[in-house]
Amino acid sequence: MKITIFGATGNVGKRAINEALLRGHDVTAVLRNKARADEINSAVKIVIGDVTNVDDVVKFSKGQDLVMSATRPPIGLENELVVATQSLLIGLAQTKVRLLLVGGAASLIVPNSNGTLVVDDAELVPLAWRGIALACLAQYQLCQENESVDWSYLSPPAMIIPGERSGIFRQGNDELLIDEQGNSIISLEDFAIALIDEAELAKNSRKRFTVAY
Ligand SMILES: NC(=O)c1ccc[n+]([C@@H]2O[C@H](COP(=O)([O-])OP(=O)(O)OC[C@H]3O[C@@H](n4cnc5c(N)ncnc54)[C@H](OP(=O)(O)O)[C@@H]3O)[C@@H](O)[C@H]2O)c1
Repeated sequence: MKITIFGATGNVGKRAINEALLRGHDVTAVLRNKARADEINSAVKIVIGDVTNVDDVVKFSKGQDLVMSATRPPIGLENELVVATQSLLIGLAQTKVRLLLVGGAASLIVPNSNGTLVVDDAELVPLAWRGIALACLAQYQLCQENESVDWSYLSPPAMIIPGERSGIFRQGNDELLIDEQGNSIISLEDFAIALIDEAELAKNSRKRFTVAY
């Protein structure tokens, strides 16, 4: 598959590239900063662009099978995530390329809570993280409202950290996955497996899904 990745130098983006290359996909990484190109595997085509620029989304999605976006705005500019999502949805409505969005846990429902969202649970989302959590919630709502793009939204569990590539994890839909020890966690490497599985199989077209141990 021909896959374009925004956020390619990030924690998630780098692992997604590794997983995609492992499976023989043709990857294009969109970087804002050319100076970070040496962080990217030499098998990847590198282009310079910004996800908040609709023209860049159009240009770098044309002829591709999938666009994956795993960008994170700087602290204090959390609303950029909403602008980025709008840009992706506008651009991909034009090129008709599938979108796989790395989202947040914010919009998941806390189990056994009568419907409380993760964003509103102060234990899961302390005040310092509320800005990015609200931006992730708005990001998901934009997808839900969108009827022009074939999107899929992967919500991480509460924690996503460097670890092993095990290939063993659970998948859910709208509820935060928590294990028997009370942990909601997955490694970045297994999260990348879930991303590339979705890229290949498109099992969650116009749906949100989540993965965790
Ligand atoms: N539990 C959770 O809900 C949870 C946990 C972890 C991550 N996440 C989500 O997962 C996503 C990725 O996280 P991460 O940890 O991989 O982030 P990260 O390591 O901070 O990487 C962010 C990436 O986004 C790129 N970027 C930022 N703004 C951009 C723009 N306007 N155009 C193009 N690229 C841009 C950065 O590139 P530059 O080099 O140009 O800055 C960088 O490659 C985020 O949306 C985050 O909210 C959610």
